Amino acid sequence: MTAATASSTDRQTRPARSSLQRFGTLLYALKRARNDKEKYRKIFIERLTEPLHLNLIACGVLLFGKLRHRIAFDLVVRQQFAFPILYAAEQAAARNIRRISIVEFGVASGSGLLNMCTIAADVMRATGVEIEVYGFDSTTGMPTPIDHRDHPEHWQEGDFPMDVDRLQQALPPFAHLLIGDVESTIPAFLATLSPEAPLAFVSLDLDYYSSTKKALEAFKGPPGLYMPSVVVYLDDIVEDSTNPWCGENLAIREFNEETELRKIAPFPLLRTKRIFKNARWIDQIYLLQVLDHEERRPKIRRQGHTLPNEYIALRPRAGQVIDAD
Ligand SMILES: C[S@@+](CC[C@H](N)C(=O)[O-])C[C@H]1O[C@@H](n2cnc3c(N)ncnc32)[C@H](O)[C@@H]1O
Repeated sequence: MTAATASSTDRQTRPARSSLQRFGTLLYALKRARNDKEKYRKIFIERLTEPLHLNLIACGVLLFGKLRHRIAFDLVVRQQFAFPILYAAEQAAARNIRRISIVEFGVASGSGLLNMCTIAADVMRATGVEIEVYGFDSTTGMPTPIDHRDHPEHWQEGDFPMDVDRLQQALPPFAHLLIGDVESTIPAFLATLSPEAPLAFVSLDLDYYSSTKKALEAFKGPPGLYMPSVVVYLDDIVEDSTNPWCGENLAIREFNEETELRKIAPFPLLRTKRIFKNARWIDQIYLLQVLDHEERRPKIRRQGHTLPNEYIALRPRAGQVIDAD
């Protein structure tokens, strides 16, 4: 794990994709949807059931839109990363924080981590905020499940191993692989985090309750290491067998019970803030609320708030006679 020092321009390791390339990606996704249940669901069940006029506008945005518009119209591969990374960078920029850290817990072959890096490079270019990407994995695949709480009906020991050398070579300089059981790699990671590059987004994809419980230790460092709200994506709450007594849901419930001033809860009203409402990822976005963050202390004084009242001018003043005509 190394603290990167390159500027955001140095970090943009590849040029932005052209309209033609983006259109090519769309055609490729449509072709793959014929044989891929997940892609079929996303395109035909989530997307094409949205209003026709919004899908027509989205075609124009896909070809000519800037990154912010493409993310607003759910046109970026792994929208569940694109929305949080842009959101996190914008939250940082608004506070004059020039660098943030983002994490993927559970990397496997690394397709998600590479998508995360591509999006991070685009967001750096769009916002000027530098992004450090960290991927945590054992590289040897899933450990032994402890019991039913790890959903052994879905996953088993040794699933999802990594080809470490190939992935290392494909990663850009701003990405870091932290190899080993998360229990052993988190302390060193927390020691590397700093208020100059606070944790702003975490994707949890370790599948097991037991592994997620260990990973949530990363949220227990000093408050200055975090944005006041850290975006959290929960990958493993979508199976029909998901329930509050197993998996990620159980790990989060226990975390919330154990930590008084750190709470993980759904991102408030996110669906109402999105153009396309059907997307499943919306229900998988949570926020770690860092309740002991300095920004949340009463002693911090900001500019006072006032509320306008446009109705007051319309009311008759006391003693004013209203003309009956
Ligand atoms: C479903 S895979 C991740 C897939 C990846 N996020 C993607 O989108 O391509 C889950 C990964 O979590 C890792 N994992 C599970 N428990 C772990 C633990 N306790 N420590 C480190 N890695 C763990 C496994 O090695 C596996 O590669």
